[in-house]
Amino acid sequence: MDLYIDTANLDEIKAANDLGILDGVTTNPSLIAKEKIDYGKRLAQICEVVKGPVSAEVIATDFDGMMREGRERAKIAPNIVVKLPCTIDGLKACKAFSDEGVKTNLTLCFQVMQAWMVAKAGAFLVSPFIGRLDDVSEDGMDLIQKIRQVYDNYGFPTKVLAASVRHPNHMVQCALAGADVATVPFNVIQQLLKHPLTDAGLEKFIADYKKAFPG
Ligand code: E4P
Repeated sequence: MDLYIDTANLDEIKAANDLGILDGVTTNPSLIAKEKIDYGKRLAQICEVVKGPVSAEVIATDFDGMMREGRERAKIAPNIVVKLPCTIDGLKACKAFSDEGVKTNLTLCFQVMQAWMVAKAGAFLVSPFIGRLDDVSEDGMDLIQKIRQVYDNYGFPTKVLAASVRHPNHMVQCALAGADVATVPFNVIQQLLKHPLTDAGLEKFIADYKKAFPG
């Protein structure tokens, strides 16, 4: 399973990249709004740091606007993936970009048929939002499992990118379900390597050693 970081914060992206196992980045308009910086400028900075896929979302909601903005974003760097919503216009733009050879990430996916349609339109990535489904008493992981099965049934190459990941157990379940990618906030990436028994065990190893070999 590939690991993307879900943020537009450059310090977090650099820190995650320094781990040596980061595969890509996802951004969205809310994440950019938090940074209070021009979207294009921040994308260029991110692409300097990370060479894997960097998802850049369009703000327009109509087909022509999505195509215009998507083309602008795609010019920023060769690793930009144009992020489009799972709507009628988003689907049409996905097909048009696929025909042009531009990679897309179809976001805000909440049901299996959205995933099936965007795969038919040639999406590179589909982003089911698991945390937001859990928030409304639905089962986000169930959606990942079903999309995985449909894609495998028909051999769709579209990658399943688990989005809206909230905690390490989501990551475990995503890996077991065969998600291709998980995009994760920085605080959750940090939690993935944490276990109190690791800390306690390490403390004891060092203390035992120092007791036996003082100085
Ligand atoms: C995906 O690409 C989105 O940016 C993201 O995962 C949304 O997560 P949230 O539900 O925590 O806002």
